[in-house]
Amino acid sequence: MKVLLINGGPHKSGVTAEALSEIATTLEKEGIESEIFWLGNDPVASCIGCGVCKKNGKCFRDDAVNRINERLGEFDGFVFGSPVHYAACSGALSSFMDRLFMSSSSKMYMKPAAAVVCCRRGGASAAFDEINKYFTINCMPVVSSQYWNQVHGSNAEQARQDEEGMQTMRTLAINMAYMLKCMEAGRKAGVEIPAPPAVVRTNFIR
Ligand SMILES: Cc1cc2nc3c(=O)[nH]c(=O)nc-3n(C[C@H](O)[C@H](O)[C@H](O)COP(=O)(O)O)c2cc1C
Repeated sequence: MKVLLINGGPHKSGVTAEALSEIATTLEKEGIESEIFWLGNDPVASCIGCGVCKKNGKCFRDDAVNRINERLGEFDGFVFGSPVHYAACSGALSSFMDRLFMSSSSKMYMKPAAAVVCCRRGGASAAFDEINKYFTINCMPVVSSQYWNQVHGSNAEQARQDEEGMQTMRTLAINMAYMLKCMEAGRKAGVEIPAPPAVVRTNFIR
């Protein structure tokens, strides 16, 4: 079983990277493979709502969104990590998740997921809520920890000093591993994942 850990921040070796590598190390101890994917610093275009991905199964912009889309089948669980930028997740991660979930939400359906947010001081809860909403609109079991998944610091060294934050990452990894193992045991015992619902789509005027 394998978990994809996405670093949506501008620093390849910053606070978010440190938080995600703590998760990766703990997952390995629990017998679960993982891969860290850094979004990088090229601009990530936002979703233009053209609907092309609904027909083609991929975004018309052939960038990192499609690279991950093509590989989603390899992964059993997901962690989306971001620095807090003005009490929200990074603009890059927001655009990336908009387009990934618009084009390939079915490939992540019922797969456990977690958000990780990193900040110097404040806004972590708001960014945490923002990321979690992608999971809970897509029937993805949300993996929790002993605290909201946040690590504080301005650089990797400070992140390591956030002992409670780092422990929160380890607990999250242990819980992710447990959930993946439970789901696999369930599958082996014949417990099927529910079929995706035929969504009744309404809005507020009809
Ligand atoms: C554009 C921008 C906005 C930021 N906004 C916040 C904020 O709202 N709250 C906060 O505590 N830190 C804020 N920070 C600091 C980063 O969240 C913090 O340094 C983070 O740990 C960096 O993670 P990284 O090394 O993975 O990029 C901001 C940084 C940038 C670049």
